[in-house]
Amino acid sequence: MSIKSTNAHYGFVAVTIHWLSAFLILALIGTGFKAADTLDPVVKARILSAHVPIGITIFLLTLARIGWWCFDTKPEALGNTPKWQEKLAKGIHFLLYLIMLGMGISGLGMFVLSGAGVVIFGGTGEALPDFTLYPPRVPHGIGARLMAILFILHAGAALYHHFIKRDATIRRMWFGSN
Ligand code: HEM
Repeated sequence: MSIKSTNAHYGFVAVTIHWLSAFLILALIGTGFKAADTLDPVVKARILSAHVPIGITIFLLTLARIGWWCFDTKPEALGNTPKWQEKLAKGIHFLLYLIMLGMGISGLGMFVLSGAGVVIFGGTGEALPDFTLYPPRVPHGIGARLMAILFILHAGAALYHHFIKRDATIRRMWFGSN
């Protein structure tokens, strides 16, 4: 498997970033909703002490991914894919990038404006701020729901290709050459 993508297969860097992002986003959706639902401030701070660094990691990973596509070229759509499906997939991919960046910016905005860092990482035992008082909390909540919907559509389409159409959509986004 080559570092860069070929016409038929994603390369090692693209495949690694893709699956790492998928795993981290699932962790963020889980920890994010759990934190928002948790009333106990100690437990909430503990959950956020995982959510925040993972969130910053995925934000940086998304920037690296955008940078990487300046050097690498995506494989072509599979020959039997109808044009409308190709366009829909591209639209969903674009929105996923946009939301990953938006979630990173709104999350960081909320984190900095609220000064929650000392509580989450300082172990001061102080009360956590009420995040709903900070404007980035609104787009962060909307983005989280959109992200969950797009994630399901994206994964659903990939599974449809793999199990119903039995084509190489998932195989070419996996390690190895086919
Ligand atoms: C792709 C990246 C991210 C995803 C998918 C994500 C996901 C979520 C979700 C699902 C929620 C709960 C939303 C709700 O209940 O309305 C949430 C809340 C939150 N997130 Fe993120 N997040 C991301 C990045 C970040 C970053 C980078 C930070 C901080 C640097 C951050 C800090 C927070 C905070 C402080 C809350 C509020 C918890 C509360 O209201 O109690 N997130 N996030």
